[in-house]
Amino acid sequence: MRGSLLLLLAPLVGAALLETRGSPDDCPGYKVVNVREKDHSFEADLTIAGDHCDVYGTDLENLKLFVEYQTDDRLHVLISDLEEDVYQVPTSVLRRPDANGDHHDNKPNIRFDYEEEPFSFRYLRLRTWLPADPYLYGLGEHTDSLRLPNKNYTRTLWSRDAYGIPENTNLYGNHPIYVDHRGDDGTHGVFFLNSNGMDIKIDQADDGRQYLEYNTIGGVLDFYFLAGPTPKEVAKQYSEVVGLPAMQAYWTFGYHNCRYGYQDVYDVAEVVYNYSRAHIPLETMWTDIDYMDRRRVFTLDPERFPLEKMRELVDHLHKHDQHYIVMVDPAVSDSDNGAANRGKEQGIFLTRGEELYQGAVWPGVTVYPDWFNPGTQEWWDNEFARFFDPAKGVDIDGLWIDMNEAANFCPWPCKDPAAYAEENDLPPAAPAVRDSSPRPLPGFPSDFQPKKSPTVKRSASGKTRRAKGTKAGLPDRNLLSPPYQIANAAGSLSNKTIDTDLVHEGGDSFVEYDTHNLYGTMMSSASRQAMVLRRPDVRPLVITRSTFAGAGAHVGHWLGDNLSQWDKYRVSISQMLAFASIFQIPMVGSDVCGFGGNTTEELCARWATLGAFNPFYRNHNELGAIPQEFYRWPTVANAARKAIETRYRLLDYLYTAFHRQTQTGEPFLQPLLPVQDVGQTSVDAYFPNDVFYDWNSGAVIHGQGATVHLDNIDVTEIPIHIRGGSVIPLRSKSAMTTAELRRRGFEILVAPNQSGYASGSLYLDDGESLDTASSLIEFEYNRGHLTIRGQFGYRANVVIESVTVLRQSRPWKAKRGVEFDAAKHSITKKVDIDLSGPAEIDI
Ligand code: GLC
Repeated sequence: MRGSLLLLLAPLVGAALLETRGSPDDCPGYKVVNVREKDHSFEADLTIAGDHCDVYGTDLENLKLFVEYQTDDRLHVLISDLEEDVYQVPTSVLRRPDANGDHHDNKPNIRFDYEEEPFSFRYLRLRTWLPADPYLYGLGEHTDSLRLPNKNYTRTLWSRDAYGIPENTNLYGNHPIYVDHRGDDGTHGVFFLNSNGMDIKIDQADDGRQYLEYNTIGGVLDFYFLAGPTPKEVAKQYSEVVGLPAMQAYWTFGYHNCRYGYQDVYDVAEVVYNYSRAHIPLETMWTDIDYMDRRRVFTLDPERFPLEKMRELVDHLHKHDQHYIVMVDPAVSDSDNGAANRGKEQGIFLTRGEELYQGAVWPGVTVYPDWFNPGTQEWWDNEFARFFDPAKGVDIDGLWIDMNEAANFCPWPCKDPAAYAEENDLPPAAPAVRDSSPRPLPGFPSDFQPKKSPTVKRSASGKTRRAKGTKAGLPDRNLLSPPYQIANAAGSLSNKTIDTDLVHEGGDSFVEYDTHNLYGTMMSSASRQAMVLRRPDVRPLVITRSTFAGAGAHVGHWLGDNLSQWDKYRVSISQMLAFASIFQIPMVGSDVCGFGGNTTEELCARWATLGAFNPFYRNHNELGAIPQEFYRWPTVANAARKAIETRYRLLDYLYTAFHRQTQTGEPFLQPLLPVQDVGQTSVDAYFPNDVFYDWNSGAVIHGQGATVHLDNIDVTEIPIHIRGGSVIPLRSKSAMTTAELRRRGFEILVAPNQSGYASGSLYLDDGESLDTASSLIEFEYNRGHLTIRGQFGYRANVVIESVTVLRQSRPWKAKRGVEFDAAKHSITKKVDIDLSGPAEIDI
């Protein structure tokens, strides 16, 4: 049995702990009774094995255990209350995989074992022992090292508006999966399907034994154990549980420019113009909340961003094959405005009793959509259809959703959001205003007075319930200050967010306490749907700040409010890798050049080159910081031009690999080896035992599983090495837009391995349709011969123009049509091969 992983639940120690009522270690635990075995699963009842200890409330007498070998490589273990009233993550938010997976030989690669008594599982705290000095990854979202610390380390999962993305704190999203990499002994993954606030502690016990311990404040123990045995296999197995990531349109991989603080539509237009003048390809222009009328969602500032001018801007972009994206926040201004009025009429905002629940965000006093309410999706779809109407509104191509943790600036307990908004002059100070501006930016009149909340229309479902088996949460819990306090960096659970004791609409009446971590993902899937309704045939790009496990099936993610600092530049690499390769959200990237504070020319130049290797490549910064569009400094412009050129030539390689991940879950990102500090022009980069080729010079590096010193890396360059054994389909030339790029032919670059062999693939489709014909072309090179085969469903109107093979000596007798590049030690053959069927090429 390869890489088998034995799971012994017996050594998992768990329990409620509350000093005042004794130690959890004295609790009796449960014993297994009445085991029912089936082919691939078994069920058992667990009954409490002694006197209650009730350290965290009343112990449940009876639990049930369900264990299922869902595939040879995936084991599902669910321990819940007998009645199944305890909250479980709703399947409407995260669909569960089918159990009838592949059982090849009835030899599962994971085994479940248990001790009948005491069945040492107890509530709330669950500890698993690990080998010494383990290599653990995952448990995001965080800005700590990719490999997690092993001692005295707590990862808290609780969505938080986390300006500055500080280390050792909970950030915007929650991904309770870890990967345990044991080298030759295999790699496995453990996904804890639980959306409650939790602390996951990684530490050593007094006797030095290494452990990982879950401390969750609710929900059931729902685990998926993924057998690996490689990190890649774990990623694929995880994608079978939470869903494959959404495929993105070709244009979304182009370069995006954004900032917070463009003062009017002319300012935005000027930036578009400046990019083209500087000859830096700009694929997509973004606008932050600046466009809104006093920062109210679904409105336009009538003076600074008037509709007519906005439509002209969008037309201009579209005519030039460019795209436009704006931000939408979930919190709706509680003032007299269309979206708010319609939402109130439809009763889709969160309430406390009969009153609307209010917070304070950018526009002042706000109300929040309740994504569980059966009417919310329709309201949201309708607001999108109106405001983003292609014929009469702002015809956006993609969407940016933010503040969906959900953020609330007013600290808990927020008794008077109106007073808070007024006292705190909520919108940040305006930057210097140009004389020509129609009126100051942001220029917020202080009409933050809340209107008296209208009586809220109730949906028919009402809020009475709690029949058995609701999976919606036990009644009578302390939903504001539970006995165990997670290490939320914002303090108490409800601080700076929606109150956790609110009850959601809909038949199940979920409470915010259990579902807080799902808010951003629910907004994500609702927004994806609203975008698909506007343009039913094309893949919608939605970039969100808050995510939960499985969000990648709907949206991409940007890494939030980083700072213009070298440490944030560095950590963006491990964050991106974690999201793409572990959490299955491959459309990911950081705010290039940094969001908070002023960037520098050097940092921005380096980040322009690093960002070009983020799947999602967007420059963004904060209101009040110096402008940082790439054309602002010569070196940055130069670095950006070169980096974008390289990215665009490689764009189909990226698109192909991204597509593969959306089909198989195989992560498409490999670690990068960039210069990571100020003034630094060299780096010690680790090269595995293989042959590598320098992207620019073609020079060969023989990796020996050790670091190699790379020197003289100009501030406009980033070291790129191609691993021997790869065939890379390049566009023959870069372009100013991805539309133009798609009209370029291909150059097939062959980088042979030690034995003169290489392979690769090229995925082609129309670049945007949800349902599209496609080609998946395979290249195989073997000592002078390139074979092209595959499926050829998509009719590309470009050809392969040339084939280049690296590390070749001058041909003894030059073959016809083959040119030799002495500097690069490469040979190139001009060809004219269309991409409609198999071909063979001698070179
Ligand atoms: C949040 C976002 C940031 C945005 C700002 C204003 O801080 O994370 O990207 O610029 O809000 O909308």
